[in-house]
Amino acid sequence: MSAALKVQVSAARMLTPVVREFTLTACDGALPAFSPGSHVQVHLPLAEGTVRNAYSLTSDPAHTRHYRIAVRLQDASRGGSQYLHRQVQVGDTLRISPPANLFAPHGTARRHILIAAGIGITPFMAYIATMEQQQADFELHYLFRPGLSDAYLDELQQRLGPRLHAYDRRPDLSRILANRPLGSHVYTCGPQPLIEAVEQHADRLGWPRNRLHAEAFKGAQPGQPFDLQLLRSGRTLRVEAEQSLLEALEHAGLQVPNLCRGGVCGQCITRHQGGAIEHRDSFLSPAEQAEFLMPCVSRGSGPCVSLDL
Ligand code: FES
Repeated sequence: MSAALKVQVSAARMLTPVVREFTLTACDGALPAFSPGSHVQVHLPLAEGTVRNAYSLTSDPAHTRHYRIAVRLQDASRGGSQYLHRQVQVGDTLRISPPANLFAPHGTARRHILIAAGIGITPFMAYIATMEQQQADFELHYLFRPGLSDAYLDELQQRLGPRLHAYDRRPDLSRILANRPLGSHVYTCGPQPLIEAVEQHADRLGWPRNRLHAEAFKGAQPGQPFDLQLLRSGRTLRVEAEQSLLEALEHAGLQVPNLCRGGVCGQCITRHQGGAIEHRDSFLSPAEQAEFLMPCVSRGSGPCVSLDL
């Protein structure tokens, strides 16, 4: 796994009452290049241990003098977004992972149809910068709660003109998806029900699945504490209520490959060997879940889980 980067918060501003934007500048040397749709993991030193949350880079990939992220304050979170909103100030340093991309635009698409809900606008800010430079054919459908989750709306209205379609309630997805030229691709970033609704409408209209792309808001959620038995090393660890299984392993000094920390990329796949498991990922099939789990999101639902580690 690549080493973490040390960055300084060079600017911070509230975009809406619940969305705070951070500009991050390298403390040593230059920041790595990134492509539109990339995210970084921000390491958050909470009282219970370090939590790593993934945030899309919103800045222009053509300029890596700095990175930008925008963070939605989550009421029911484990404290990561609250830490970024309430504790972090300009001048503070943070550790972040190098950028990784699980949601890149399709290079040969004839038209890009972007559908964002709320904080789902963030990956598209980098898409839009790149697509404007490439003079790509794109349009943005942006669904938000006015005055609350409408980050960047004024900027987008000025920048995109008629290419921006703004909605304060769920739009008619059939109208958005119908009669599109061959080679169109749809990208959805938002809550899972919106992604599923786009897929259902697209299926009805005969869109091939390989022209649909999505990124859901996913991350570790709290649950009951449980013990973890590591069969190869003979160690026993405790996974606290606010901690993910992956974080407990990292806290104990074990390195498990990971990219999304949201149960979608498959990187952290780990074989389990006993104990009741609550699978919360979107990667494994039910047959695979009988043998494996994704420790970034899934947890034990009984007193103990055994892992092949
Ligand atoms: S890190 Fe992506 S599925 Fe766990």
